[in-house]
Amino acid sequence: MNFKIPFSGRAHNYTEEEEQIVLKAMRDAIPLTQGKYLAEFQVEFAKYIGSPYAFGVNNATSALYLSAQMCQFENGDEVICPSHTFTASLYPFIKNGATPVWADIDMESRVVNLESIKAVTTSKTKAVIVVHLYGFAIPDIVEIADFCKENNILLIEDVAQALGTEVNRKKAGTFGDFGVFSFHSHKNITTLGEGGMLVVKDDKFANIVPMLRHNGHTAWSFDRENYWTPAMGNVDLPELNGKGILPNNFSLGEVESALGVELLKRIDKINREKRGRALHFIDAVSKISPLLKFHKVETVQHNYHLLVAEVIDGKRDVFMKKMSEEKGIQVVVQYYPLHRYDFYKKLGFGDAKVPNSDSFFDNMVSFPFHHSLTEDEFSYLLQSTKEVLKEL
Ligand SMILES: Cc1ncc(COP(=O)(O)O)c(C=O)c1O
Repeated sequence: MNFKIPFSGRAHNYTEEEEQIVLKAMRDAIPLTQGKYLAEFQVEFAKYIGSPYAFGVNNATSALYLSAQMCQFENGDEVICPSHTFTASLYPFIKNGATPVWADIDMESRVVNLESIKAVTTSKTKAVIVVHLYGFAIPDIVEIADFCKENNILLIEDVAQALGTEVNRKKAGTFGDFGVFSFHSHKNITTLGEGGMLVVKDDKFANIVPMLRHNGHTAWSFDRENYWTPAMGNVDLPELNGKGILPNNFSLGEVESALGVELLKRIDKINREKRGRALHFIDAVSKISPLLKFHKVETVQHNYHLLVAEVIDGKRDVFMKKMSEEKGIQVVVQYYPLHRYDFYKKLGFGDAKVPNSDSFFDNMVSFPFHHSLTEDEFSYLLQSTKEVLKEL
């Protein structure tokens, strides 16, 4: 189908300054990975987020994988995860030996809460993954973090969609043991299609990440007469010795890092602009009909990475048909509850008691909402939505 407004796979355009910094890094970065731009991006990101340590990686899935490795799961250890999320939130943990246990979402906020996590916590729970989905920072995150700490459970925040959002003036991603960010093509800022960041606050994790991220490389712990012997660098993971955990190469390149520094300067503006548009859209549409139930948040708690609504009265599919076929707007449905995928069923993780996740997925719609929608496209999107609602 040829859509007038596709659900774009590209979030935003680049400014002249951003293009120039890419050219500069292409010309002067030595080496082209693991250099000064990565160091600068990590420092600036840590400052922006308010975390002592930030590590650039090639994408958020790798950051999740590193977090999963550092959890050191043993036989029977469970990880709690919402079923209503993107698949990458979870499978790195399965690969590292964890057994998933599904938590339900709250019907209003569309994210997990303390109650839904407590309901599935057992003596085997080693870690909890929470996802600030659609760009909404989980309201209960402080309570969830306290609960995890009290029960010696590691907390992973998947902030892939929620960069820059806050709860109680603290940025999402800084409440847990691990905060995971994505700069994928779809996200509110993108470092040329792929990119991610892992933030940690504990020194014991911060000491391990650089080695785990890059082939175990580390400096020798003793002075050498000749710098070239026994080799340029050591390959060892002293903190993980004997645990069977092997390193990776998940590095973020210098050009992407240089661009990341520049993009960070306008993430708040991008989020503000998206939130402004979302609120305008929600208000205008809500005046026409109660058929679409939006989640309206006027503060920095939501960056409206995605604009989603629940379509009531069983009218989701007719709404989508009209929007796509009559108006040429590629509305989509996200995120297939993980326990319903054959992939997870085959692994034995198909059982779940998550009625809200099932119900929300079966009735939801997600609008094209990339930052680079022009004013004309946005007006057409709004006008078309109003017209379709009037017909229904
Ligand atoms: C909630 C969530 N978690 C994890 C990821 C994985 O991010 P990446 O593509 O950077 O690996 C994504 C998106 O791509 C996501 O939306």
